[in-house]
Amino acid sequence: MEDLSPRPGDLDALETASRDEIAALQLERMKWSLGHAYENSPFYRARFDEAGVHPSDLKSLADLAKFPFTTKKDLRDTYPFGMFAVPREKLVRIHGSSGTTGKPTVVGYTQKDIDTWADMVARSIRAAGGRPGDMVHVAYGYGLFTGGLGAHYGAERLGCTVVPMSGGMTERQVTLMQDFKPRIIMVTPSYMLSILDEFRRQGIDPRESSLAVGIFGAEPWTNAMRQEIEQSFDMHAVDIYGLSEVMGPGVASECVETKDGLHIWEDHFYPEIIDPSTGEVLPDGEMGELVFTTLTKEGLPIIRYRTRDLTRLLPGTARSMRRIEKITGRSDDMMILRGVNVFPTQIEEQILKCHGLAPHFQIELSRAGRMDQMTVHVECTPDAADEIARATSAKSLAHYIKSVVGVTTKIEIRDPGGVARSEGKAKRVVDNRPKE
Ligand code: DLL
Repeated sequence: MEDLSPRPGDLDALETASRDEIAALQLERMKWSLGHAYENSPFYRARFDEAGVHPSDLKSLADLAKFPFTTKKDLRDTYPFGMFAVPREKLVRIHGSSGTTGKPTVVGYTQKDIDTWADMVARSIRAAGGRPGDMVHVAYGYGLFTGGLGAHYGAERLGCTVVPMSGGMTERQVTLMQDFKPRIIMVTPSYMLSILDEFRRQGIDPRESSLAVGIFGAEPWTNAMRQEIEQSFDMHAVDIYGLSEVMGPGVASECVETKDGLHIWEDHFYPEIIDPSTGEVLPDGEMGELVFTTLTKEGLPIIRYRTRDLTRLLPGTARSMRRIEKITGRSDDMMILRGVNVFPTQIEEQILKCHGLAPHFQIELSRAGRMDQMTVHVECTPDAADEIARATSAKSLAHYIKSVVGVTTKIEIRDPGGVARSEGKAKRVVDNRPKE
């Protein structure tokens, strides 16, 4: 694989600034952001007044802990436009994240917000090894979801040629990749696996494709999956993180030269890690729930937003800005089986250890009597589809899950193509337990 480290002059000055410079800028911007929220959003004014805090109470970055959290519920309760801090006419774009309840969580952007977002995604693509002039195939969904348009504006901002494919029509995705020869793809890791299958189905060696870099996010994925994709395509696979409430993709991103976690673009997003049960701020290095405060956002300032994503803060490496460790999962995705906490990513890791299994899987939760039961539905590879091979694969997967994760599972081996494919974010868990 190519060495894609940045060349002198490639980076924004802030990416290599000292911690003191970064902290000084953050404090100045945080004061602005709290003041803007308080002055212009009746929601925040009521919240701060209730908690007995005022923006002028912020004298240091640590003082942020005095301010109340915001949650997804706050966005739902104020649906659709109740948290905005500018008149609706000043918004140039609305996005939303799909909720399980039918109505999306609505977010809005001013022109300046869209510009900042494009800058941050451009910075993320460059961190992944992208350069002006590259062709970028965007297979994140376009629409209310922030993935497609977020990637699109960022790639344009960097000076790339964008192919706005969106998700779906996998056969056509591969045909156009063969014809246009993009150097970069931006897509969910689970959909990248569907694209991989399609390359093979068409008899094309994925290693011969033009792709040199994949920028994968919007859902949790493991380093084992990274290896699988990198080897299959002979390309770099880097992680990009974000959420619509804070902005969209490009809140944090990995550098191709280190691939050691995601640098948070701290000049615009201030991270904290809290203990999810007490709300207490934890020191860097400790695992907990990621919380973000936007430092420059006008349309929808977000103060101490609880993401529910679990990770820890690490010092900067390839850039001065701090990193988050690859996200293991959301607290919402955590399954508790006989007292053991289990995340779908842990199952993904074990599947990728097993010869004869493809990384297409779904976890089913059911209840037998009073006991919860977990069944892993996973596909065999075409060369390990006979009965003996299936039995061996099932046995080794059950063994790995029992010994590494600590739970007993039932394994159902499906035919190649037998597990529903993702065209965006994969649905990893199907909960068939009776509702209480
Ligand atoms: O998924 C934004 C995005 C689009 C990020 C494209 C990266 C690429 P939402 O739909 O609001 O926004 O979902 C946000 O997705 O809180 C995480 O739980 C999860 N997530 C996003 N990126 C990652 C990642 C977009 N790299 C929610 N690793 C977040 C793990 C991720 N989880």
